[in-house]
Amino acid sequence: MKFFLDTANVEEIKKALEMGLVDGVTTNPTLLAKEKRDPNLTIKEILSLVRGPVNLEVLAIDAKGMIAEAKQLATLGEQVVVKIPMTEEGMKAVRALHEEGIRTNVTLIFQAVQALIAAKAGADYVSPFVGRLDDISTVGMEVVSDIATIYSNYGFETEIIVASVRNPLHVLEAATMGADIATIPYAVIKQLMKHPLTDIGLERFLKDYESLKK
Ligand code: G3P
Repeated sequence: MKFFLDTANVEEIKKALEMGLVDGVTTNPTLLAKEKRDPNLTIKEILSLVRGPVNLEVLAIDAKGMIAEAKQLATLGEQVVVKIPMTEEGMKAVRALHEEGIRTNVTLIFQAVQALIAAKAGADYVSPFVGRLDDISTVGMEVVSDIATIYSNYGFETEIIVASVRNPLHVLEAATMGADIATIPYAVIKQLMKHPLTDIGLERFLKDYESLKK
């Protein structure tokens, strides 16, 4: 299972890289805006740090504009994957980019049939947003499970990126379902490593060994 970091924060990427936990990075306009600096500088820095896929999103909403933007983004590094929104115009762009050998990740997927469409259009990745579905009382991970079934039924090679991950349970379910990738905020990566019994156990080991010195 691959872990992508869902962030545009360079410090978080550096910390996760030290633990070998960055198989790739996903950004979006919101995450880039959160950094409050020139997004071009942020992108450049991320590309200098990360060898795996770095997902950068287009801002255009028409196919022609998306294709032009995607081509420009693809010149920034060979690890660039272009995020395209799940719209009719987006699917035209995905098809054209597929034919040009530019990799795409179809984003803002909220139902399994959207992922079927994206795969048929030629997407390399799809990003179902599980947390945002949970927010409106729909079980996001069920969408992931349906997409996995559809892709396995027909042998699609499009990879599933579980996105909008909000907690460790999303990661656990993604892993048990065999999702290809989870894109995870740094705060959730930290939660994945924590257990109170680990802390208590470590404290006791150190205390017991200290008692030898008395
Ligand atoms: O990968 C998509 C992600 O950035 C969206 O997450 O928490 O804004 O729904 P969230």
